[in-house]
Amino acid sequence: MPATFATFTRLKDKGIAALKSGDYASARPYLIQAAECMIELSEESSDAAKRAEQESYAKELMELAKDCDRRMKRGGGAGGGPGGRGRGERARDDNDKGADASDWVVKERPSVRFADVAGLEDVKEEIHLKMIYPFRHPELAQHYGIDVGGGVLLFGPPGTGKTMIAKAIAGELEATMFVITPAQLMSKWVGEAEQNVRKLFDAAKSEEKSIIFIDEVEALVPKRRSSDSTVMQRVVPQILQELEGFDRKAGRALLFMGATNEPWSLDTAMLRPGRLDAKIYVPLPDAAARFKLFEIYLGKRPLADDVDLAALAEKTDGYSGADIKAVCNRSASELFLESVQGAEPRKITLRDILSAIERTPPSVTRKDCEKYDAWAAQQS
Ligand SMILES: Nc1ncnc2c1ncn2[C@@H]1O[C@H](COP(=O)(O)OP(=O)(O)OP(=O)(O)O)[C@@H](O)[C@H]1O
Ligand SMILES: [Mg+2]
Repeated sequence: MPATFATFTRLKDKGIAALKSGDYASARPYLIQAAECMIELSEESSDAAKRAEQESYAKELMELAKDCDRRMKRGGGAGGGPGGRGRGERARDDNDKGADASDWVVKERPSVRFADVAGLEDVKEEIHLKMIYPFRHPELAQHYGIDVGGGVLLFGPPGTGKTMIAKAIAGELEATMFVITPAQLMSKWVGEAEQNVRKLFDAAKSEEKSIIFIDEVEALVPKRRSSDSTVMQRVVPQILQELEGFDRKAGRALLFMGATNEPWSLDTAMLRPGRLDAKIYVPLPDAAARFKLFEIYLGKRPLADDVDLAALAEKTDGYSGADIKAVCNRSASELFLESVQGAEPRKITLRDILSAIERTPPSVTRKDCEKYDAWAAQQS
């Protein structure tokens, strides 16, 4: 079938729609076919400028297809994993053009507080010093010449609570949070990148207290040299420029936050002073934090007397918060299933949980952790 603009539009729209619903497996082939179709169209084009534009558009689509690949490898899919597509995300129709920021940014007033986050005492303290206190006491901050606002990057292994902490910061500050996930953003950015970045920053600046949070920021800002994406080439400098323009005077509260479990793939320009310069390591939980995690995620469930949280914490060295949550959910849902199938409802025993631990290996390896430690050491 010869490539026509109508075929291209149909393929592209299907790909983008699937991408937006988080169905990366379906999105990928559509995006690739749309890109190929665009290449064919560009080959027929006699105008050199138009041809270049079409080629770059095809590249952007291939970049989105690659992103689908990455997300599938990471276990993303409809519904999303930890840090996946946020609550309250809006369903949208397939028409990408002419959307304003309110169509693609999720505005939230998170109710999560620091008290809900187990452990990470050092992280919380650092965040208080850099973000919470300067916001709450702007006069004192000004008196001592402490900057209010700015950029913070939370980095660390998957499932350690980065997304949760980001929300807790907004919760503590009672700030409005603009949550963006790259897949959503990228799908909106094909063809209208700069405009959308500006709209996002404008929307955030119009609030009294606001936080722009880009989760999984590495997907948005790969190292420029390793990426031939034209979207990135246009968008990264734009974000940097907006960051420079942040109003940091006391009383104006605007924070830019990113979270990543691949800090080494970020564009180093993002990490310079004045940008995402405050880097905070969110490590795996220590024994005390694991104790607390079990307490949180088992606390509201029927527990037998033999359940010993300290023993569970001991057994789960190397597990992330998300892993521990999964263990707790698994123990409870197995008994729930048994009782649905007619068994006498019973309490969760230590053995049930230990068995769930055995069948739930930690998602982060020691080698992974060393990589984060090494990156953290390089930054200081
Ligand atoms: N320290 C913690 N306290 C309480 N809950 C936690 C903690 N760490 C992780 N969790 C739970 O694990 C789940 C995953 O956490 P979260 O999404 O914040 O991880 P993340 O660090 O953002 O992971 P990723 O790098 O994969 O995005 C959350 O649902 C949260 O409830
Ligand atoms: Mg996350």
